[in-house]
Amino acid sequence: MQSKTPKDSRTVMTDMVLPGETNPLNNLFGGELLARMDRAASIAARRHSRRITVTASVNHVAFNRSVPLGSVLTIEAAISRTFKTSMEVYLDVWMEDRFSGERSKANEAIYTFVAVDETGKPTAVPPLVPETELEKERFDGALRRKQLSLVLAGKMAPGDATELKALFLND
Ligand SMILES: CC(C)(COP(=O)(O)OP(=O)(O)OC[C@H]1O[C@@H](n2cnc3c(N)ncnc32)[C@H](O)[C@@H]1OP(=O)(O)O)[C@@H](O)C(=O)NCCC(=O)NCCS
Repeated sequence: MQSKTPKDSRTVMTDMVLPGETNPLNNLFGGELLARMDRAASIAARRHSRRITVTASVNHVAFNRSVPLGSVLTIEAAISRTFKTSMEVYLDVWMEDRFSGERSKANEAIYTFVAVDETGKPTAVPPLVPETELEKERFDGALRRKQLSLVLAGKMAPGDATELKALFLND
């Protein structure tokens, strides 16, 4: 299967925050952001695999900053690493101030998607070759994040999470 780069799956979604999508503090509701990120990640996973893809896990979400009503929100998603049938999708969320137009990082998230066939059975995806320094850094960390996710989901014994253990033993 021919390899691809993160650029091949890069997905950019820009939309604004409307009144029905906010909490009582007039900031974007967390669940709304999760759904928007899921959509962007799903498109990136499809662009990489050209298969049906399903969300297997939300590995990490940091709601570092609130996103006020009226903000313009841009979600950038790209595949950061593939395994056999699963893909890690890294998301960067930017917000644009409605008055100054200044763009700043609002959030980051990491989702895992699995490519499946028409019966829902996991199916192999093309390998990924990272190009930039940031892509290489995200690629390198993905195996330990996968192991952590599998351990937390009860799908891997902690003793088998070699990459994860090395993180604690080497520092
Ligand atoms: C995701 C799903 C296809 C995995 O099926 P499964 O029977 O567990 O299949 P496998 O054990 O072969 O796992 C498939 C891949 O997913 C990975 N995976 C499964 N659960 C995972 C998790 N919690 N975190 C990270 N990776 C996970 C496995 O490691 C494997 O990766 P690999 O082939 O790249 O090594 C299946 O659980 C499913 O269909 N879930 C529902 C998906 C869905 O409806 N999402 C929307 C929710 S509303």
